[in-house]
Amino acid sequence: EEDPNAVERPPIITIMGHVDHGKTSLLDSIRKAKVTEGEAGGITQHIGAYTIEQKGKAITFIDTPGHAAFSSMRQRGTDITDIVIIVVAADDGVKPQTLEVIKIAKDSGVPIIVALNKMDKETANPDLVKGQMAEHGISPVDWGGDVEFVPVSAKTGMGIDDLLENILLTAEVLELKANPDAPAKAAVVESSLEKGRGPVATVIVQNGTLKVGNNVVCGSSYGRVKALVNENGKQIKEVGPSHTAVVVGLNEVPAAGEIMMAMNSDKEAKEYAHKRYEYERNKELSKSTKSTLEDMTSMIAEGKLKSLKVVLKTDVHGSLEAIRSSLTELRNDEVKIDVISSGVGGITESDVELVSNSENCVLLGFNVRPTGSVKALAKQRNVDIRTYSIIYQLLDDMTGMLTGMMA
Ligand code: GTP
Ligand code: NA
Ligand code: MG
Repeated sequence: EEDPNAVERPPIITIMGHVDHGKTSLLDSIRKAKVTEGEAGGITQHIGAYTIEQKGKAITFIDTPGHAAFSSMRQRGTDITDIVIIVVAADDGVKPQTLEVIKIAKDSGVPIIVALNKMDKETANPDLVKGQMAEHGISPVDWGGDVEFVPVSAKTGMGIDDLLENILLTAEVLELKANPDAPAKAAVVESSLEKGRGPVATVIVQNGTLKVGNNVVCGSSYGRVKALVNENGKQIKEVGPSHTAVVVGLNEVPAAGEIMMAMNSDKEAKEYAHKRYEYERNKELSKSTKSTLEDMTSMIAEGKLKSLKVVLKTDVHGSLEAIRSSLTELRNDEVKIDVISSGVGGITESDVELVSNSENCVLLGFNVRPTGSVKALAKQRNVDIRTYSIIYQLLDDMTGMLTGMMA
C-alpha cells in the first residue's frame, strides 16, 4: 500500500552486459570520471554505485561486474533496480553473457533500455545487433517493439544525453516514490574491511533517510553510523532515498545484497542482529544434518553405510535394557548398530542436538514422546524422531533399515 508521505525519488539504474562491452566506460563517460584506469586488468572487481545529475534530476547508477563469475552478485544488483540498461557492443553483438543478462532483466520485470555501445567503431553494425536482440525477445521500438535502443559511444560521448533522457522518461512513467521521513532502509551494494575505518558498506537508500548516529542492523551485523561518506569521498550527515553512501560504524562486514535498517535503539539493533545470526546458524546446521531415515536406508542398501548410530530413550529401565540388547543382536555382517546414548526419560533437546551433530544417527523413543519445543527443534534440525509403544515394531523397523528396506 502507498505511503501518503512518499515523494518522488531518483531512479536506480543497473548497467549490465557482456565482458568488455563498455559498462564501466559508459559510466565513466556519464560521470566524466575515470574509473576504468584504476581497475586491475580493466575488469570491474566489485559493484560500485554513483549518483549523477541530468538537467537537475538525479539518477543513481550501479556498475555491475561483467565477468561471469560475478553473476550472482549481478543478480543481487537487480533487486533494487528500477531500470536495467543492457550494454551491447555494436561491433561484437549478442554474447553468452548478454543472453544471461536478458534473462535476469526479464525475470526482474523492470523496464529495459539497450545501449548500443562502441558506435564510433567502423565495424559497428547496430541493425545486426537489433536483429539478434529481437530474436531473444528484446524488440526495438523502431521495429514496432517496446524497448528503446540508444546508440552511444562511451569513447566519444555520442548519445550519452539521449540515454539519460530515455532513463528520465522511463522513470517518469514508473512514478518512483519514497518517504524521506521513514526509518531508513538501504541495500548494501559492496562491503569491505578497511584499515582505520573497520567494516564499511556502500549502500543505496531505498526508503527513509540514513543519518549519522542511527542505530542500524544489517544481517547479523549492527552498529551506530559513525560516518557517512559520499561517492566523492566527502563526509555527509545524512543520505536520502536512491542516494548512495559509504557507511562506517558496523561491527562486522555485511554481505553485498544485505538490507540495512535503522532501529529505534542500540539494544533493538543488537537483538535483531542476534536473531538473524541464530537463524542463519540453524539454517547451516539443518543443512549439515543431511541424512533422513530414508537416506540412511538407501545408503545401507547401496552398501555405503557400515554403521548406524542410535540414541534411545525409554520410559522404564527394563525396556531400555531389553531394547538395547535386541538392537545389538540385530547387527549383521554388513552393518553394525551402535547405541551411542541411551537413557530413561522423555526425549529432550539435548537428545536432538546429539543426533543432529552425529552422522547417520537415529533417534528412537519407546513409550516416551517429545514435547512441542523438542519437536520444533527436531524439525529445524531435520532430525526424524521415531516413537514406539510395541517393542517388536521398533525392532521390525530397525531390521528393515538394516536390510535396506525400511517401510
Ligand atoms: P567488464 O567490467 O570487465 O565486464 O568490462 P566493461 O563492460 O565495463 O567494459 P570496459 O568499460 O572496461 O571497456 C572495455 C574496453 O572497451 C576498454 O578497452 C574500453 O576502452 C573499450 N570501450 C568501451 N567503450 C567504448 C566505445 O564506446 N568505443 C570504443 N572504441 N571503445 C570502447
Ligand atoms: Na573491462
Ligand atoms: Mg567494468
